[in-house]
Amino acid sequence: MFTPPMARLRLRTPAMFTMVVAATTLGLAASGTAHATADLARKRACLACHQVDKARAGPAFIDVATRYRNDRQAEARLVNKVLKGGGGAWQMPMGPMPAQSQVSEPEARQLVKWILAQRP
Ligand code: HEC
Repeated sequence: MFTPPMARLRLRTPAMFTMVVAATTLGLAASGTAHATADLARKRACLACHQVDKARAGPAFIDVATRYRNDRQAEARLVNKVLKGGGGAWQMPMGPMPAQSQVSEPEARQLVKWILAQRP
């Protein structure tokens, strides 16, 4: 069917508007999630040993993200390590990280995604 150019324009404009609104909402949702995850890291006591930008008892989360930047298996491995504990990667004076049994698997995954997304 032939659509007059003006009709097409009128159709296209609200669609564009919707896309811009959707993109903006997505952006806000993403930063909202980062904020919520930082909160979760505090509530689950990750921040008792870790800081985002400084090594404490555990490595800085920015350093963790930098080390595994090109490692596509890192997420699964780190989720497992958070849940079960372990050492050997950072040689911190305190030794290995204890198992973080206060977090569920989905929480561990959410936290690890957030950690790996940190940028200096
Ligand atoms: C009691 C202190 C302590 C707590 C609490 C702690 N960590 Fe750790 N974390 C460590 C230490 C020490 C290491 C270094 C382990 C190593 O050398 O492999 C580490 C390493 C890590 C790593 C990098 C592991 C690797 O193989 O590179 C991640 C990711 C991590 N911690 C996430 C978390 C999360 C998420 C929490 C909260 C649920 C948490 N940590 C709570 C001490 C802690």
